[in-house]
Amino acid sequence: MKDKIFVALLLLSLLLQGCANNTTPASTAGNEIERKIDSLLKQMTLEEKIGQMNQVSFSGENAEARELVYKGRAGSIINITNPELINSLQQVAMEESRLKIPLIIGRDVIHGFKTIFPVPLGQAASFDPQLVEDGARVAAIEAASTGINWTFAPMIDIARDPRWGRITESLGEDPYLTSVLGAAMIKGFQTDNLSDSTAIAACPKHFAGYGAAEAGKDYNSTFIPERLLRNVYLPSFETAVKAGAATFMTSFNDNDGIPSSGNKFILKQVLRKEWGFDGFVVSDWTSIAEMVSHGFCKDGKEAAEKAVNAGVDMDMVSELYQKRLQELLQEGKVKQAVIDEAVRNILRVKFRLGLFAKPYVNTGAEGVLYAEAHLLKAKEAAIKSAILLKNEANVLPLGEHIKTIAVTGPMADAPHDQLGTWVFDGDKNHTITPLKALQQQYGDKIRILYAQGTAYSRDIKTNGIPAAVSIARSADVVLAFVGEESILSGEAHSLSGLNLQGAQSELIEAVAKTGTPVVTIVMAGRPLTIERDAALSKAVVFNFHPGTMGGPAIADLLFGKAVPGGKLPVTFPKTAGQIPLYYAHNNTGRPWQGGEILLNDIPQEAGQTSLGNTSFHLDTGVEPLYPFGYGLSYTTFEYSNLRLSGTQMTASDVLTVSVDIANTGSYDATEIAQLYVQDCFASVTRPVKELKRFDRIPLKAGEKKNVTFTLPIAELAFYNIEMKKVVEPGDFNLWVGPDSRDGLTSSFTVVN
Ligand code: NOJ
Repeated sequence: MKDKIFVALLLLSLLLQGCANNTTPASTAGNEIERKIDSLLKQMTLEEKIGQMNQVSFSGENAEARELVYKGRAGSIINITNPELINSLQQVAMEESRLKIPLIIGRDVIHGFKTIFPVPLGQAASFDPQLVEDGARVAAIEAASTGINWTFAPMIDIARDPRWGRITESLGEDPYLTSVLGAAMIKGFQTDNLSDSTAIAACPKHFAGYGAAEAGKDYNSTFIPERLLRNVYLPSFETAVKAGAATFMTSFNDNDGIPSSGNKFILKQVLRKEWGFDGFVVSDWTSIAEMVSHGFCKDGKEAAEKAVNAGVDMDMVSELYQKRLQELLQEGKVKQAVIDEAVRNILRVKFRLGLFAKPYVNTGAEGVLYAEAHLLKAKEAAIKSAILLKNEANVLPLGEHIKTIAVTGPMADAPHDQLGTWVFDGDKNHTITPLKALQQQYGDKIRILYAQGTAYSRDIKTNGIPAAVSIARSADVVLAFVGEESILSGEAHSLSGLNLQGAQSELIEAVAKTGTPVVTIVMAGRPLTIERDAALSKAVVFNFHPGTMGGPAIADLLFGKAVPGGKLPVTFPKTAGQIPLYYAHNNTGRPWQGGEILLNDIPQEAGQTSLGNTSFHLDTGVEPLYPFGYGLSYTTFEYSNLRLSGTQMTASDVLTVSVDIANTGSYDATEIAQLYVQDCFASVTRPVKELKRFDRIPLKAGEKKNVTFTLPIAELAFYNIEMKKVVEPGDFNLWVGPDSRDGLTSSFTVVN
């Protein structure tokens, strides 16, 4: 029933979008908008133009804000969320200011507004574009109901370093997965009709390369050569432009010496010329001013000059455009046309959002925040985002023989921390924790014992562990909820070590020693190095912070009301020293052959070459703890009968790949099938495997389905030795399977 309400809501909004689209064909509407912009530009003073390029931050009632808006000195406000205040500021803009240009109201709505969904990295584990779109739709509906019309999401930085705290905001390490899910999020935020009252403008970020921060330390420099940038870090952004993203945000990092907010190459050449982006670009928070700290500009004035000339249309809060553009114009360092172009881009988005026609929010909209349908979607997302990493002897799902469970660990009942980072608006009082969900759903059927063990994830005190051991002794199973507090990931929250913090590993060890089987449930913002903890546990369920409904989702998974099916959107290393570790790496000239001896097997005074001269770490080999794409189910799947539509293809052909997948276990479940390709030799070295397709395949117990993927050969193009995007003829390997490590394999050749 509740699902039906949600579907009905989505259908209604699609219908309305359809109607709006039918009345005004896009090109006519576009011309009309350009005419209106021309007319406004003619009337605007220089101050008013620069005002549009200025974003200010205010959270409460503020006379200064009113004054700025009245004088046309602010085009956007970030961080107000009170609908009455938003309306009253819009009223100043629309009824009192000279030219009546509406404000665009921005807010970080990253994985939900009030109803909090799993962090983006968790959503990515669902490999489910529709779910990700629905999640963004819910976030947009809730945010728009308070007058917000612009979010700073999706974050589509490729993240290959779990030390980086912002990996949690990313969609993982893979360019294809990130592109598909990033586009789905944009669709969810914006719908197909930006002027829909429930649509908010998306802002793909951070352009570009931010995720490659050296040592995984936030804001750090990156050194991404152009080919890698184009092959790995830019495709998700190009897809975002194709998906109609209204705005873009520059990143904080300097890449190869050039901070993004002053980088003409990415902003003008790539974004505008090559991709044809016609929305506006906003800087990240004070990133224009920070070009001085970078040592890229001698002062704020030069920073404003470099940013505007590079193509940053709006200054997020550094005030440097407001303070410096006028004199830069007088000195001829910035041209009038550059300012006009920036203002044009900003006004275009405001028109597309329908803000001139409908600047106000209906403050009477009730029942939107935390709506039942939204909570249900958030629960579905948390279920689909959970990844089963280990399930020895099918200890999960918990069966009827379980009469007493021992719940322990600092994340069992941590309503704030399970929400994850970037939760400015979600209220922890709405969170349902695993402990609460288990008590609500099973409290009358089984005995639930609870001892927290340690108070919070970093807690090093061990005096709570004996109580956990004691309940473990009297239980049939231990559920150990461990992980990270939300503050340990997200912006500026990077780590150099990825073991469980505090005394959590000691807690697991102590309860495991009782002999009662331990199921470890991790809630964290990043991959953690849990090899030892997993070895002590019979089963491991990993949840990137699962949000408001994480508790009920986990309860359903543990008791088999739902079957885990998430797959890792990022590689899990065994140790932090293996980082960077990602599946789509290039081959060395001496790839590991397997079988080389590891640290403890090396005889003393072994001969220099006796270990084999290949590429591996003596202490960890080359394998990750869990590979990209990995995740178990309560059932088992078998792949067979891999067939290709041809083995000689040209660049204009479409390859059809088919495979049979059977559910060979006893649970109805969904398998995420993955198709990888390797370009065996090329004018530049290529990754050993690249994800090219994936699909969610629901299969009843015992059912077998034939699954087909279509892959245009054109999608095998890459930036080659001449920095041209081409498909180079040659041999290709192909795999279809359950993850990036295993699968059936075949090959084909691309001919001229
Ligand atoms: C800085 C962050 O890097 C960015 O992602 C965010 O959108 C802005 N601050 C605004 O809060």
